[in-house]
Amino acid sequence: MSDFEDEMDVDGPAPSMDVTFSSEANKGKRSAANLPVEAEDSLPWVEKYRPTTLDDVSGHQDILATINKFVDSNRFPHLLLYGPPGTGKTSTILALARRIYGASNMRQMVLELNASDDRGIDVVREQIKSFASTKQIFTMGASTKANSIAGFKLIILDEADAMTNTAQMALRRIMEKYTANTRFCIIANYSHKLSPALLSRCTRFRFSPLKEGDIRTRVDKVVDEENVQIGGEAVDALVRLSKGDMRRALNVLQACHASSTPLRLEGAPKVPESEIQRGTITTETIYNCVAAPPPDAIKDIMSTLLNTSDVTSCLNTINALKVTRGLALADIITALSEQLAKLEVSPEVMISWLDGLADIEHRVAGGGSETVQTGAVVGVIRGGVELMSR
Ligand SMILES: Nc1ncnc2c1ncn2[C@@H]1O[C@H](COP(=O)(O)OP(=O)(O)O)[C@@H](O)[C@H]1O
Ligand SMILES: [Mg+2]
Repeated sequence: MSDFEDEMDVDGPAPSMDVTFSSEANKGKRSAANLPVEAEDSLPWVEKYRPTTLDDVSGHQDILATINKFVDSNRFPHLLLYGPPGTGKTSTILALARRIYGASNMRQMVLELNASDDRGIDVVREQIKSFASTKQIFTMGASTKANSIAGFKLIILDEADAMTNTAQMALRRIMEKYTANTRFCIIANYSHKLSPALLSRCTRFRFSPLKEGDIRTRVDKVVDEENVQIGGEAVDALVRLSKGDMRRALNVLQACHASSTPLRLEGAPKVPESEIQRGTITTETIYNCVAAPPPDAIKDIMSTLLNTSDVTSCLNTINALKVTRGLALADIITALSEQLAKLEVSPEVMISWLDGLADIEHRVAGGGSETVQTGAVVGVIRGGVELMSR
């Protein structure tokens, strides 16, 4: 596979620096793929550790194998990658583009438009169309190999579910018309927000949330390379709390790392990186950073709710805990329902708990008052306990 890559670098379209697109065609192009080296130091870790090759992308083995096969057999369909954020959709397609064209040709052969660019109907009509139709210059002039994989251009539409409906409509005709020279890769969080006509033109891949093992491997690598001081349990908590979102895991890790670095006093000389004394990141730091209620606070709340039969004193204890630990009711409900689900109780009790908490969560999200809804939580849990003793 790797010699294929090399071959691409050499035999791909000759660098066509002399051919320039209209300024419009260049407008949407991203530069993250080819950032200057000196910028890398100050990059957020999610960008610094963005996978550069398809092999770097963790998880999604089946998808990667299929995509690689498309490239190897020179049968590349329009792609749709969808799934929750931070699972590697953008990274995969950028690595794929790098594999097909080589880093140096990406600029000419790939148009990336994402949610931050204007992608209304005009852009689809003008920018995408002009980019797609200029391809001929390359096939005729540059690509000498008849079946060269780089014989088509790639248009990446990131966060396509934010595109207007009319733009999506306009797109389907363009996709068909320029299939000979262009492939589209549509990236979205939700496939139901895309027009069915677009969906049916693409080969779909769902990126599921990453497995804890995959996130852990990546986090361990970053911890190693950045010299992060972090305990084993804290890594466990970080991996668990990131819930399959690698971007979140790395961002939280970087935030905790920064907060464990002592502040430099004004005017003090700059301490070299290797001599900075950092505190160790603990589980508590992680929970604070994610603003998730720490497990011991939830345990306190649970045992109070399950064991105190006097409802008023129950309520007082919970309110006191909320104030001293700075907890929000919405977070308590989420954590509480996870913990309650682990208990072994009769079905009626469990149903009354889960059903009740779901209702309360809905009311809190709709703007219900914290105080009243805290009372409702106590009511629901105690109600279940009363059912048990019957
Ligand atoms: N599967 C993965 N393997 C390695 N790193 C990943 C993966 N998914 C996400 N990341 C990390 O998270 C960051 C954001 O990923 P990205 O591909 O932009 O996610 P998406 O587009 O799915 O929201 C990347 O820069 C990378 O550091
Ligand atoms: Mg993305």
